[in-house]
Amino acid sequence: MAVLPIVRLGHPQLRTPAEALEPEHLATAEVQAFIDDMIDTMREAGGVGLAAPQVACGWQIFIYELASDDPEVEIPLTVVVNPMVESAVRELEEDWEGCLSIPDLRGLVPRHAEVRLRALDRHGEPLDYVAYDFEARVIQHEFDHLNGVIFLDRMRDFRSLAFMDEWREYLASEDSDVLDEAVE
Ligand code: NI
Repeated sequence: MAVLPIVRLGHPQLRTPAEALEPEHLATAEVQAFIDDMIDTMREAGGVGLAAPQVACGWQIFIYELASDDPEVEIPLTVVVNPMVESAVRELEEDWEGCLSIPDLRGLVPRHAEVRLRALDRHGEPLDYVAYDFEARVIQHEFDHLNGVIFLDRMRDFRSLAFMDEWREYLASEDSDVLDEAVE
């Protein structure tokens, strides 16, 4: 297991759509070791999500996890392969996001509050579930990475863009539900 370097905005992989994995390839030691490395990398960075293009890999894999003592808040480690994401609700809700590949910035990003995710898990078993609110936001952010899209592309208005220190000082509210891939 190893911590991989996280690439930043400007690296071409972040703008390259990822490719689906054949189930036989997913089962190989190479891909399974890569998934373990992604988990190490996300935890080392203190992130809640990580997509393969962020470690310069072009496979359709993302992972997410929110560790918390509060079972209402906690999101268990989830490994998502070859995902399809759709939303039945048209309304979008804005909330704050950050990204490990765009360090130190936060902005308000509109997202669906509910999404249905269909994918494979790391063992090639089907995943099919509906996620809400913060988890739905994480899924949309990470799914975007697999399509070469970053959160800045989703912002309606760059006037909310802020550096972390200034965000904390001037913009954070106690009820803001932040998706910051590097949760401090
Ligand atoms: Ni990101």
